[in-house]
Amino acid sequence: MGKIGITIFLLACFVWSVVFTAPSMAEYGDIVLNSKSKSMQSADVKPVVFPHWFHRIRFKCKVCHEGIFAMKKGANDIQMGAIMDGEFCGKCHNGLIAWEPLYCDKCHNYEGQ
Ligand code: HEC
Ligand code: HEC
Ligand code: HEC
Repeated sequence: MGKIGITIFLLACFVWSVVFTAPSMAEYGDIVLNSKSKSMQSADVKPVVFPHWFHRIRFKCKVCHEGIFAMKKGANDIQMGAIMDGEFCGKCHNGLIAWEPLYCDKCHNYEGQ
């Protein structure tokens, strides 16, 4: 391969890697919150998927850690009533910074078991 050939090859690799890794980037860092599984089952809602990546690219870490959420999976005792009262997710999902916590399925959408 000549110089141009190598350049084209490298460009192709780059495009391929961007195109084929982009979808999994969006998934990267999703956190399933299911410590309240009994209560969620009786309310007929699925476990919660928190799209960490989606939030991380919009807010600095310190917006949430450690003031709102301890930085450890499962370490936060999150009640739905508290969210409705503007705590935890409800600090932003209050109809001002982000949509209100009325659309249950937007958060309670974990499809696995
Ligand atoms: C919008 C709020 C928010 C922002 C911004 C945020 N996080 Fe988090 N983070 C969370 C939540 C919610 C959890 C899950 C806590 C739980 O499971 O109780 C979490 C969990 C974590 C965990 C534990 C993951 C695990 O598997 O144990 C780490 C580490 C972490 N965050 C690091 C970061 C870093 C680093 C940043 C900035 C680049 C950041 N977070 C930004 C909300 C946020
Ligand atoms: C620091 C503010 C903040 C906190 C705290 C926060 N969110 Fe968000 N969240 C946002 C913003 C802003 C959006 C984008 C809203 C929009 O697009 O209108 C968003 C969007 C989302 C989305 C939609 C993502 C998408 O792909 O469109 C989900 C799901 C979500 N948040 C769940 C949660 C859950 C669950 C928690 C608590 C564990 C939480 N959020 C805490 C600010 C926050
Ligand atoms: C902004 C995201 C978000 C929305 C919207 C949301 N929830 Fe939740 N919900 C959570 C999180 C996070 C937890 C904690 C899950 C855990 O830790 O197991 C939770 C926990 C719960 C629980 C178990 C804890 C408790 O307090 O009993 C129930 C039941 C529940 N939600 C019902 C609902 C219903 C019904 C709706 C719609 C009216 C709703 N949720 C909307 C994020 C949300």
